[in-house]
Amino acid sequence: MTALTGRLLAGMNDNLHQLRCFGCGARLKGAEARPDFRCAACGDLFEVEYPGWSERKGPDRPNAGALKWLWRERRCSSEALDHSGVWRFRELLPILDSFGNAMTLSEGNTPLYHLTRAARALGIDRLFAKHQGMNPTGSFKDTGMAAAMSVAKERGFEWVACASTGNTSASMAAYASRAGLRSLVLIPEGKIAWGKLSQAMDYGAVTCQLKADFDGCLTLLTQIVNEAPIYLLNSVNPYRLEGQKTPAFEIAEAFDWNVPDHLIVPGGNLGNSSALGKGFRELHELGLVARMPRISVIQAEGANPLVRSLETSQGTTLEPVEAHTRATAIRIGNPASWRKAARVIQDTGGWCLDVTEAEIAIAKAELGAEGLGCEPASAVTLAGLKKLRDRGVVDPGETVVLVLTGHTLKDADYTIDFHRGTLLKDEEKAGREAEIDALRRNAVAVEATPAAVLAAMKGRAG
Ligand code: F0G
Repeated sequence: MTALTGRLLAGMNDNLHQLRCFGCGARLKGAEARPDFRCAACGDLFEVEYPGWSERKGPDRPNAGALKWLWRERRCSSEALDHSGVWRFRELLPILDSFGNAMTLSEGNTPLYHLTRAARALGIDRLFAKHQGMNPTGSFKDTGMAAAMSVAKERGFEWVACASTGNTSASMAAYASRAGLRSLVLIPEGKIAWGKLSQAMDYGAVTCQLKADFDGCLTLLTQIVNEAPIYLLNSVNPYRLEGQKTPAFEIAEAFDWNVPDHLIVPGGNLGNSSALGKGFRELHELGLVARMPRISVIQAEGANPLVRSLETSQGTTLEPVEAHTRATAIRIGNPASWRKAARVIQDTGGWCLDVTEAEIAIAKAELGAEGLGCEPASAVTLAGLKKLRDRGVVDPGETVVLVLTGHTLKDADYTIDFHRGTLLKDEEKAGREAEIDALRRNAVAVEATPAAVLAAMKGRAG
């Protein structure tokens, strides 16, 4: 860093963060939070805040131009932290006493793809996918884990733990092993995709399959961390969200700091939508971008407590549901961060809606056919956009970004079942059969002869 940049950024590296309760506004020092990250006064969750930012006005404000220059320069640096799409932006997440404790698996810096076919079909020219499935363990969780695992390490924990529908556990297990920590995973038995379970095993976690759903696993884990010195790494941990806000910075940077009009995010436990909203809000407050994008959250119809909450009580109360969906990553009925996500949707003028199992499967196959592919939970974003277009609320001239959260190989069973025609029940696909059949590309058994293979290419076999 040059002396000039050093002066322009002076003070931005100081670890002067505090935690602020999202419900009652109570403030704590980071290390004072309870092990379950719930407010002792009102039970709500905390958010990381940086009081120094609002205190420094006028000429003391961080220099937006210098930051943008520095963050781009770091991509050419040979330092491991500079290569991380999280720590590259470390001035906006000063959560550690020393960045020497920051750990990374080179997460972030994920691709932003132009979705040409879907754009044509929907009549929206500028439609993009930010593919967070291209992270080291194949999901968006890695950005949050880089941040929160670094805090766990700095605070001297030996054990970390999470309840998970699969991706958090895969990510946590990898980052824990790299940090030299032990990890405990609680997962709902039979309800997570094999790819994710295999990752947790391979990265060395103690993996407990429970006869409970995700919500039950998280409740149990909350009791456990209140009894034993284990660091909780679910997205109730506010440091996770600090890492998960960084894709907002990457998106803004990719559009040369003109934010897109609309960002569409899947909703499960609702940490990700909350984090991305926080990221864009901070960019706006610090004067790095001129406005915030509209942020919409899409849930599966069988796991839609936030949709119901916004419909019935404008997001003031949430009634848990018993969740059902083949998009197992978002099979969550009692999401922890619902208040934060509701605020993001309301503050940005976004929408919250749900999509059916058939709509998810079709959207996933369409993204696959674009050469991208993603997890079923990620495909809700395209399915949701189609609904918003049908309702006439998204303009063809808008720039829209879909956040794809997981890699297609995470849940190969889902994909194979779709292409074999065994994924959806008759009542689930009623009325959409032709559309589904047109997207199916089942493998065909053919004789080992040139004629048979050439016939298969013309679609005559199978
Ligand atoms: N997409 C994928 C692929 C996920 O794994 C998740 C959440 C979501 C979307 C929803 O994100 O919870 O922040 O609203 N998976 C968690 C897990 C719950 O345990 O892996 P969210």
